[in-house]
Amino acid sequence: MTKKFLIAGNWKMHGTLAFTETLCSEVAALLKKEPLKQVDLLVCPPFTALSGALKTLQKSGVLVGGQDCHHEPHGAYTGNISPVMLKDLGCTHVIVGHSERRQYERESNALVKEKAEAALAAGLIPIICIGETLEERETSQTLAVIERQLEGSVPRDATVVIAYEPVWAIGTGRVPTIDQVTEVHAAIAKKQKSFGSVSGTAKILYGGSVKPSNAAALLNVPHVDGALVGGASLEAASFFAIAKAAAGL
Ligand code: PGA
Repeated sequence: MTKKFLIAGNWKMHGTLAFTETLCSEVAALLKKEPLKQVDLLVCPPFTALSGALKTLQKSGVLVGGQDCHHEPHGAYTGNISPVMLKDLGCTHVIVGHSERRQYERESNALVKEKAEAALAAGLIPIICIGETLEERETSQTLAVIERQLEGSVPRDATVVIAYEPVWAIGTGRVPTIDQVTEVHAAIAKKQKSFGSVSGTAKILYGGSVKPSNAAALLNVPHVDGALVGGASLEAASFFAIAKAAAGL
C-alpha cells in the first residue's frame, strides 16, 4: 500500500480574515488544477480565522485544524477554546504541544497528553509535537528527550499524529541532516508501536524549516509521513510545492 502523506500548514499568529480568504482560495485553486494523489492537505489558521478558512475551503478537499485546544470540553476557562468547539466548526485535526507553547506557555508533557486525549474524545486527530533544543542535541540527549516526550505526552492505544520538530530548526532555516531525521523518526516509530493499537491514519511528520527545496529529501526518509510547515505555509505556491514534492514520491 502506498502511504498517504499529510502536509499541514501551521500559520501561527498570522492571518486576518482577508489574508485567510486569499491564501485558502489560492490553495484550493492550485489543488483543483492539479489534484494530488496520496496527499492530504491541512491548514491550521488562528482560531479567529477558522470559520473563514472552513467556508473558503468548502468542498476543496483541504482540511482545517486548530493550533491548540483546552483539555476540558467546556467550562469556566476564560479565553480558551475546547476541542469540542473545534470539532463543531468542522475541524479534523488540532496541533498540541507545539514547542512555542511548551516554551512560552510553559506547557508540560502531562498537559499536552491531556489536551491530546480531549481532542481524541471530541473526535479530532491530535498532532502532538515533540523535539529537542539545540543544547539537548549538542549534548547527545536527543533520543532521551524524544523518548521522554513520547512517554509523557502521547496517549496509548490511540491514533494520533506525532510531529518531530527540532526546536533549533523551527523558523531558522536550519534543518537536521537526513541521517539525524532518519534516526529520530525510526526511534519514534518503534516507540509508537509499543503504545498499542495504531491504525493506518497514525502518522509521523517532520517539521522545522521545511521548504520546497528540501521537502522531497525530508519526505523520502523512512517513517516520515508528512510535514508540519510554518513559514512556507503562508504562501500558497510554496505550501503547494511541498505537497507536490510528497505526491511525487
Ligand atoms: P517553520 O515552522 O516551518 O517556519 O520552521 C514549523 C513549525 O513551527 O511548525
